[in-house]
Amino acid sequence: MKIMIVGGGGREMALVSTVARFHEVVAAGGSDAIAQLASESLPMMAWEELADEAVRRGIDLTIVGPEAPLASGIVDVFTARGLPIFGPTRAAAQIESSKAFAKEIMTQAGVPTAAFQVFTDADAARSYLDTASFPQVLKENGLRAGKGVTICGTREEAEAVLQEIELDSENPLLIEDFLDGFEFSLIVMAHGTNFVALPVAQDHKPIGEGNTGANTGGMGAISPVPRVTQAFYDEAVARVIVPTLAQMTANGTPFTGFLYAGLIQTAAGVRVIEFNARLGDPECEVILPRIESDLAGALLDLLAGGTPQVQVSEEFCLGIVLSSPGYPGTISQYPEIPSSLFEAVEAHPRADIVHMGTRFAPDSDCGSEAGGSWIAAGGRVAIVTMKGASIDECRTQLLALLEDGLAGSELYWRRDIGTFAS
Ligand code: AMP
Ligand code: GLY
Repeated sequence: MKIMIVGGGGREMALVSTVARFHEVVAAGGSDAIAQLASESLPMMAWEELADEAVRRGIDLTIVGPEAPLASGIVDVFTARGLPIFGPTRAAAQIESSKAFAKEIMTQAGVPTAAFQVFTDADAARSYLDTASFPQVLKENGLRAGKGVTICGTREEAEAVLQEIELDSENPLLIEDFLDGFEFSLIVMAHGTNFVALPVAQDHKPIGEGNTGANTGGMGAISPVPRVTQAFYDEAVARVIVPTLAQMTANGTPFTGFLYAGLIQTAAGVRVIEFNARLGDPECEVILPRIESDLAGALLDLLAGGTPQVQVSEEFCLGIVLSSPGYPGTISQYPEIPSSLFEAVEAHPRADIVHMGTRFAPDSDCGSEAGGSWIAAGGRVAIVTMKGASIDECRTQLLALLEDGLAGSELYWRRDIGTFAS
């Protein structure tokens, strides 16, 4: 089949390499690194034009990676033209793009989540915070690449956040109770109320080791997560995924696509921290390499009303993100990824590298097509993954590989990825 994959980050490169094991891939809006894997690369363009390109090429299925195209209605355009596409409509994608929408669904469906209030006026938020017990979690609405959330330990910290943002009915602020527990990510491939659950994963959001410091888009991931037992996984599916999909269908905004539930196991049971309308990044970079069967075939089967079986390897996959200095604040430098890293990955049979934000700089002196280097072009640059029989095995091998391949590099990475999973 011919599969079109939309987007140019790490999630999309992982999707492209997974799908390309079985099918021809056309990339739309892909990165330089994706262009090396895809059989054809198209630039990002208006959705109607992209739909024309899909028709022209006889694309069997389009898979949408990032949230922005979903929130701007790519699925609505393709569906109106009868083109198979896997992703939520603009209305359903609000489960990610509007935290207030997500909370409304959860309230209607009885899905457990933190107690919350929505404010469109800063003074009302101040009065509420005056009597609240801290910590409180302040969440800006809309798509913020994982960075619109501040956990405030004190009233003063909350005030500092309020000073920086402008509240109105378009930009509400959600204030919710702090939940204490063990976080993990559960992603399902859904079509209406029908779904197939993917293996569980765990992200590592803060920039610093020990899960300290500012939140990022995610600094590493592991799949599976030993602490999430089968019983606990089944409970999360039953209490979160099933009622959420049923409620969205009942509300006339059925969800098709990857539904991502960011969950936390508290002393009182599982709670939803957030929903995303897409695959998690960096979670999918450690989930997809474990899928042995044909992913695109499974998605088409789902769209046709089936419930496909997905074969998953028993192995662990651990990924460590490399970031540019300064991230998630102002980036001070965009380093080159040293060729020694690519050599080390190439030399290790269980290692792989997925580009998240890079560009290829051809080596003009060299004149050969192979010559050139990969330069960081974003905060999160790449994720290096390692498969193995245990988390410790993956971690030890991967850390040794990075120490060796990145000696002298300015790129930053956390050395404790995977140590919270058991
Ligand atoms: P979000 O963008 O909503 O996923 O939030 C980013 C991160 O902030 C989450 O992965 C959690 O680590 C943390 N967080 C968000 N909401 C809460 C909460 N209510 N209680 C504790 N931590 C939270
Ligand atoms: N890893 C969290 C996210 O994709 O939003």
